[in-house]
Amino acid sequence: MAAKFALLLLLQLALTSADDMSMEYHRYDELRKALVSVWLQCPTIARIYTVGESVEGRELLVLEMSDNPGKHEAGEPEFKYVANMHGNEAVGRELLVYLAQYLCDQYQRGNQTVVDLIHNTRVHLMPSMNPDGFEKAASQSGEIKDWFVGRTNAQGVDLNRNFPDLDRIAYINEREGGANNHLLQNIKKSVDENTKLAPETKAVIRWIMDVPFVLSANLHGGDVVANYPYDETRTGSAHEYSASPDDALFKSLAKAYSSFNPVMSDPGRAPCRQSDDDASFKDGVTNGGAWYSVPGGMQDFNYLSSNCFEITLELSCDKFPAEDTLKSYWEQNQDSLVNYIQQVHRGVKGFVRDLQGNAISNATISVEGIDHDVTTAKDGDYWRLLIPGNYKVAASAPGYLSVIKKVAVAYSPATRVDFELESLMERKEEEREELMDWWKMMSETLNF
Ligand SMILES: *[C@@H]1O[C@H](CO)[C@@H](O)[C@H](O)[C@H]1NC(C)=O
Ligand SMILES: *[C@@H]1O[C@H](CO)[C@@H](O)[C@H](O)[C@H]1NC(C)=O
Ligand SMILES: [Zn+2]
Repeated sequence: MAAKFALLLLLQLALTSADDMSMEYHRYDELRKALVSVWLQCPTIARIYTVGESVEGRELLVLEMSDNPGKHEAGEPEFKYVANMHGNEAVGRELLVYLAQYLCDQYQRGNQTVVDLIHNTRVHLMPSMNPDGFEKAASQSGEIKDWFVGRTNAQGVDLNRNFPDLDRIAYINEREGGANNHLLQNIKKSVDENTKLAPETKAVIRWIMDVPFVLSANLHGGDVVANYPYDETRTGSAHEYSASPDDALFKSLAKAYSSFNPVMSDPGRAPCRQSDDDASFKDGVTNGGAWYSVPGGMQDFNYLSSNCFEITLELSCDKFPAEDTLKSYWEQNQDSLVNYIQQVHRGVKGFVRDLQGNAISNATISVEGIDHDVTTAKDGDYWRLLIPGNYKVAASAPGYLSVIKKVAVAYSPATRVDFELESLMERKEEEREELMDWWKMMSETLNF
């Protein structure tokens, strides 16, 4: 009986593999089932967890895919995709369900690209950051959905305007001197107590703070473009190119997505609507501020609060297109989705340790000429995404002597650079001993 059941289950799972699965919208319960089905099919490389709950009590589910699900492996970078933050922008949600199924299938078939990716990366997929909004949008009858219904969470909060506005701090620091990274540290307490932050936003902020993410993308709809920081303009004007210190890198990351999507990168693509202002679009990418200013967005928040570099992907002219078109969106985005994850393996990476080989966590990695530092994770491991070039990279930590190294970076894979930092305490000890030796020698020669 049990064997028969197992066989039936296997048969059913075989039938739902990515090749055959027709793409449909998944309501909340169906979404859970779809993620569980991937987990059952690939239990050794998948895990489901939740980062919190929506206003109406739906879980913010994440499917993690990695060769060691459930833990951060020293030296292995972490990646995330977050979709459906605007509940009525539904394509990304379905693409992530499909991506999970695809990675599981390809892994089982021994596709070397996918096997390598899963072995060397910890990938987190959150198909819906706004499950309440999605249910509202999906509940409308008929094929054509309203442009706004379901965009916000159940409290009417636009989650992509709800993050702490760290750009304002960064822009003040640019003028007056001050940090350009990890800007939440001093105001973290105010996040917990801030009643203006939606539960979905708070849950995702905690997630960003807890996991050493290196790279991510936020999947939206309503246009077709890869959008990179900054999203909020310096002057507050509605449209203004707003370069971050990592402008060249962000452009390269956005192109790594758009160039594999034939629709996004098509220079002859007509704007989604005649009234659209796509003047800032080039090669399927745009600077956020140049398109339109977004204060309180998640993209800039990732960059300014953590080590995570995030871009925003607009995947479809229609926010909630007809179900029978979903498959074509998968075909357009399949290679981009995989290629973008692979971008996490660029730049420099390595470990920062003391002379005894102990990990130094929260050490600072800075690159000459780029005013944006990253920090080491708990095992002393770090990842600093960079475009190809020659760099001077420094590692420093309070109580240690800093070390600077010259590094040549190719497109990929990342160049491995480890740092060994000498503790200032040790240095003092050594100097004291040297001084004592000298005194001894002097006293002996002078016959004190
Ligand atoms: C293996 O996966 C990669 C990445 O998705 C894909 O480009 C390639 O076509 C796959 N190979 C086969 C044989 O399916
Ligand atoms: C990390 O280091 C920075 C700068 O050295 C410091 O301000 C911050 O408090 C440290 N954070 C933790 C969690 O130790
Ligand atoms: Zn959106």
